Amino acid sequence: MIGDKLRYTYRNDVGRVTNMNIGIDKLHFFTPHVYVDMEELAEARDVEPAKFTIGLGQTQQAVAPITQDPVSMAANAAWPILTDDDKEAIDFIIVGSESGVDQSKAMAVHVHQLLGINPFARAIEMKEACYAATVGLQTAVSHIARHPESKVLVIATDIARYGLNTSGESTQGAGAVAMLISKDPRVAVINDDAVSYTGDIYDFWRPNYSTYAQVDGKFSNEQYLSYLETVWTEYKKRTNKTLADFKALAFHLPYSKMGLKGLRQLLPEVDEAKQAALTEQFEASRVYNKRVGNIYTGSLYLSLISLLDQSQDLQAGDTIALYSYGSGAVGEFFSITLVEGFKDMLADESHQAMLDNRIQLSVADYELIFQEELPTDGSQLVLSEDEEQFQLAGVEDHKRLYK
Ligand code: HMG
Repeated sequence: MIGDKLRYTYRNDVGRVTNMNIGIDKLHFFTPHVYVDMEELAEARDVEPAKFTIGLGQTQQAVAPITQDPVSMAANAAWPILTDDDKEAIDFIIVGSESGVDQSKAMAVHVHQLLGINPFARAIEMKEACYAATVGLQTAVSHIARHPESKVLVIATDIARYGLNTSGESTQGAGAVAMLISKDPRVAVINDDAVSYTGDIYDFWRPNYSTYAQVDGKFSNEQYLSYLETVWTEYKKRTNKTLADFKALAFHLPYSKMGLKGLRQLLPEVDEAKQAALTEQFEASRVYNKRVGNIYTGSLYLSLISLLDQSQDLQAGDTIALYSYGSGAVGEFFSITLVEGFKDMLADESHQAMLDNRIQLSVADYELIFQEELPTDGSQLVLSEDEEQFQLAGVEDHKRLYK
C-alpha cells in the first residue's frame, strides 16, 4: 500500500510521536488577465528575440494591472479550491511574499476576510525572497502534526518588478499559488527530508524605499547554482538518496532557463536514459512558467503545478524533488511523493483556460500599465471594476479597499 509506505513520523513539540501523512491536498494558481509577448518586448528593446525565448526560456510575461495587487491575487488563487468545510477547518493562513503592501499588517489578514475563513484562525505573512512559501509549507506541516484536524492555507503571491528598460525587465511577472495543506492529502505527501542552507549575500534585494528590485544578475545566477550544489550534496549525505530516486525535479524558476541550468548541473550523476527522462519532465515543469514569468515566492510551486498538469507519465508513489531558492539567500532541497488519485485533484483545465483567455498587450500599453501607481500620500483613489473575483477597489485614508 502506497499510503503505508509514505507514513512519516513527526515528533511534535510536546514530545509525542505522531504517524500521519501530511501534505498538499489541493493547489491552484492565478495570474492576471493581461500579458506582453516576449518577442515583441525584445524587438522594442532592440534585443534579438531568441535571447528572451531561448536564452531565458520565456515566451510571455504576465502584467499586473493596478486593480490586481498581491492581496487580490492571493485571494483569486485560493477561492476556486476552497469548500465551506475547508474554510471552517482552516485555522492558519500563511502568505509568503516579498511584495508586501504594508510594513505592519499581514496580507493574510485581508485574504482571511476576503475568503470568509473561520474567524478563529492565525494569519501571518512570511518573508525571505522567493523562499518564503517553502518555509510556509514546512510550518504548515509542523502545525498539522500537532493539530491533525486542522487545515492550513499557504499562499505565495508576488509581482516581480525590475523596471522598464532594465536587464531584469525580461524576468518580470505576476501571480499567486494557493496550496491547502492537510493530513491524508490527496495530491502529495511532503516528506520529512528538507535540507536548507542560509548565507548572507546581496544577489537580489529591495530596500524599503524602492518599488523596484536591485539585482546583481550574474552573481544571482551563480549563487542559485552554488546553493543547489550545497543543499543537494548535503541532502544525499543525510538521506542516502541519488538522483535516480526521483521521477522529476521542480526548480524555482525566475526564468525557465535557470532551472534547466540547475538540472544540467545534476544530470551527469545518472545514465543517459534517466537524463532524457528527467529532461522530459523538466519540459513539462516549465510550460506555465514560460508564459507567466517570475512570480518570486510562487515560481517553484507554479512549476510544480505545471509538472503535475502537463506531464503524461507521473504516477502515485512517484517522488518529486523540489529546489527552493530565495535570494539573500536561503536554499532548500526537499521532496514530495504523489498519492493515489492525485490526478483527480488537479485544476489543469482551469489553469489552461486562464492562460489561454488572457489578452495580449502591446508593448506601449504594457508600459502604461506598468507605470500606474497608487497614491503615496493617502489621498482617495477609486478604481474601475475588473473581471476577476477579487480586486483592489481603491485607496482611502491610507487604507486599501478590496472587493
Ligand atoms: P542579461 O544580461 O540580460 O542576459 O541578464 P545574458 O547576457 O546573461 O543572456 C542571457 C542568456 O541568453 C545567456 O544564456 C545568453 O547566452 C543567451 P546562458 O549563457 O546564461 O545560458 N543569449 C541568447 N540565446 C539565444 N539566442 C540569442 C541569445 N543572446 C543571448 N540571440 C539575467 C539575464 C537573468 C541575469 C537578468 O535578466 C537578471 O538580472 N534577472 C533578474 C535576476 C534573476 O532572475 N536571477 C536568477 C537567479 S536569482 C533567483 O532566482 C532569485 C530571484 O527569483 C529573486 C528572489 O529570490 O526573490 C531573482
